[in-house]
Amino acid sequence: MAEHDRSTRSTTKHKHTREKSKRSNNSVWSATAPKMRSQSLKTNAKADVCVVGAGIAGLTTAYLLALEGKSVIVIDKIGVDQGETINTSAHLSNEIDATYRDITRYHGAKGARLAAQSHTEAINRIEAIVSEEKIDCDFARVDGYLFLGPGDSEETLDRELEAAQNAGVQVTKEPALPFQIAPGPCLHFSNQAQFHASKYMDGLARAFKRAGGKIYSKVEAKEIKGGESANIKLANGRTITADAVVVATNTPVNDWMTMHTKQAAYRTYVIGVPVALDSVPAGLYWDTEDPFHYVRVQRINEGEKSRDILIIGGEDHKTGQNEDLENRYARLLSWGRTHFPGLPDPEFRWSGQIMDTVDGLAFIGRNPGDDQNVYIVTGDSGVGLTHGTIAGMLITDLIMGRENPWSVLYDPARKSPLAALIFAKENLNVAAQYTDWITPGEVSSPEEIQPGTGAILRNGLSKIAAYRDAQGKLHERSAVCTHLGCIVAWNGSENSWDCPCHGSRFDPDGKVLNGPAIAPLEPVETEKSSTATAND
Ligand code: FES
Repeated sequence: MAEHDRSTRSTTKHKHTREKSKRSNNSVWSATAPKMRSQSLKTNAKADVCVVGAGIAGLTTAYLLALEGKSVIVIDKIGVDQGETINTSAHLSNEIDATYRDITRYHGAKGARLAAQSHTEAINRIEAIVSEEKIDCDFARVDGYLFLGPGDSEETLDRELEAAQNAGVQVTKEPALPFQIAPGPCLHFSNQAQFHASKYMDGLARAFKRAGGKIYSKVEAKEIKGGESANIKLANGRTITADAVVVATNTPVNDWMTMHTKQAAYRTYVIGVPVALDSVPAGLYWDTEDPFHYVRVQRINEGEKSRDILIIGGEDHKTGQNEDLENRYARLLSWGRTHFPGLPDPEFRWSGQIMDTVDGLAFIGRNPGDDQNVYIVTGDSGVGLTHGTIAGMLITDLIMGRENPWSVLYDPARKSPLAALIFAKENLNVAAQYTDWITPGEVSSPEEIQPGTGAILRNGLSKIAAYRDAQGKLHERSAVCTHLGCIVAWNGSENSWDCPCHGSRFDPDGKVLNGPAIAPLEPVETEKSSTATAND
């Protein structure tokens, strides 16, 4: 999903066992970079700071704290760079997905200026880290271009131009794109950037370790508590104690309710299509449709050979709330062929999770209602690579006891009265999902479930998430999300059970893929199971 990330996302609120099959996520990043191996943690441990989550937010925070002389442990339930960071399209932009028009409305003129400054500083910091740590990650400064979607008027560009300029962003209006993918004027954002997401993360992890940091993978936090000394209880029975803990798990797994009422989970989709070398100029391109499309090109060097992959993303929707998921990739390709005639079939396709906040900016800082030494970063809002880097700078200042000019703007406890309508709409949407408890099953018997697909079955008062694998074996779990009890929905594009309430996702056997849930879907008691009738 896209920083554009379009880190992965949508302009309005307004906007696994993942089986080894064609449905698996196959991002250009993970396919073209080595994976860093890290060890597991088999003993109790102690550090100044424990960071939970080894994505860009967690690792940037850990790296900057290690440079300050702190002892830092990073844990991740999978490993370095296995989460949402590599599900982005790796745009690095100071144009925020929510638009400066909305950011100004929700946060005022001063807030918009601080937001622009922080995202600009984030790109500068990434560039500095790449240079200082000699990270070979294809980092390049490029320009960005916002162009009109079909039927949209020039006024949309004019309003955003004024708001972005007032916020201090270097942007001009041009009569045409430098490269003819769409007719009409565009906004031209100077000095944006792009990089190879996995190569950057690999380099950042190595730099952190050189600075004395420790990374442990396949280590799952089961309970996180602050206090005089923070305690992180692990699924393997061990404990980490630290002066401070930073929860950087995309959506906070230590918060049961508060933060999840202020943000909503979306899926976004990306394809990578081979194109002739240099046929698409380097740059970040995105349109004004809702959800919008985002485009860039990535050069892949393999030995003596180089080739270009055109990255096209979009088709966002609320997690767990749409059915035609497999068609999303086809529609992206169709859109791509309209703007880039003659495109072949994609070589890569992947999807990612975006946490859109009610007021367009991430939540970074002390966890509301928790002890003073528990910090969170969440709410990427489609620009998670810059928001994650801002988190690194901001949380490092908070832990070091320094003032930071962005702390109020990103405070997780902030109130957003002007975003109250979006807040109400999102929470009414969540409330509506609970009616799934009383609806019938999607199929009346397991025999109706084809190999490689899943469906919800009703069994008395219960609902069962039933998946039939390619070999015909039926896998059944409770369909009740272990976060706050909504009924999950089958995602046939990614072979997962997705929760429509706050975005938790589970593999076909019920294992957690995305929080806020931390426990797997419950097993179905044998006597209640419907497997007896299946052809297993
Ligand atoms: Fe909250 Fe499922 S993610 S109920």
